[in-house]
Amino acid sequence: MSKKLAFIGLGVMGYPMAGHLQKAGFSVQVFNRTASVAEKWQAEFSGAACATPAEAARNADVVFVCVGNDDDVRSVVYGEQGVFAGMKAGAVLVDHTTASAELARELSAAAAQRGFQFLDAPVSGGQAGAENGALTVMVGGEESVLEKVLPALNCFSKHVGWQGPAGSGQLAKMVNQICIAGVVQGLAEGMQFIAQAGLDPERVIGAISQGAAGSWQMSNRWQTMSRGEYEFGFAVDWMRKDLKLALEEAQRNGSRLPLTALVDQFYGDVQAQGGARWDTSSLLTRFIPVK
Ligand SMILES: NC(=O)c1ccc[n+]([C@@H]2O[C@H](COP(=O)([O-])OP(=O)(O)OC[C@H]3O[C@@H](n4cnc5c(N)ncnc54)[C@H](OP(=O)(O)O)[C@@H]3O)[C@@H](O)[C@H]2O)c1
Repeated sequence: MSKKLAFIGLGVMGYPMAGHLQKAGFSVQVFNRTASVAEKWQAEFSGAACATPAEAARNADVVFVCVGNDDDVRSVVYGEQGVFAGMKAGAVLVDHTTASAELARELSAAAAQRGFQFLDAPVSGGQAGAENGALTVMVGGEESVLEKVLPALNCFSKHVGWQGPAGSGQLAKMVNQICIAGVVQGLAEGMQFIAQAGLDPERVIGAISQGAAGSWQMSNRWQTMSRGEYEFGFAVDWMRKDLKLALEEAQRNGSRLPLTALVDQFYGDVQAQGGARWDTSSLLTRFIPVK
């Protein structure tokens, strides 16, 4: 693949992801809705900040997008200033936003109509994964297109996995969120039980994290949970967006997600008590309020 890329959306995730691409030797043109962020990025990485998504996409071989939700993606892709208006024939649009599988299928068809290619490529690994270039990327679309863009994806990933046709990356990300929801609620209940029983969390977690109960959430979140710290990490608002996507998709494909639906409501309780931007481990605050 050639060296010219575009990146749209320099948020918590996009900013460092685009930075890794520029540092790896690609020439990256960026767009961010709030222009000052793009200017800061340009000063830090010496890529090029552009005034519109179309301008950023011009002459790029691959255009990456990482914004908030389905409508945000549509607003940077379509229209006179959207990336489709600037992309050249044969270029690839890679959407890293966690969005619906329906949007992925829509964009795949819209891209094909215009002579472009499309991959849905949501990520997991959080802010630390993006900053350390250690994300996991779940990809939907044509496998041959993934092979083409793989050298770029590898700049910020430790694992890139093809999942199937357009939309399959988003479906895989839904599985990721479904699994996390249950694990975090279980950990919150365990941490509550430790407190009520008067046990020492360090001793308990030190023992059980090595066995079958161990999880990424347990190893990385028990200390902050026991201190009641939640002002960091993956926000409850984002998690509710993702669980809504999973619950809607389950209605379509006939999956039953009783635990996911329940934990989604619990996150609603956390939002109601002011925790919309708290880390997802804040499920514990339903049992042990923050001081
Ligand atoms: N944060 C995580 O730990 C994490 C982990 C895995 C996946 N994700 C997913 O990755 C995506 C991005 O997350 P993030 O944490 O980077 O979000 P973020 O920090 O809130 O950044 C969102 C970015 O999208 C831009 N944006 C939002 N709506 C837009 C619109 N309508 N038009 C143009 N630009 C728009 C924002 O521009 P402004 O600067 O102008 O607001 C910003 O650059 C989300 O889908 C999220 O679910 C996040």
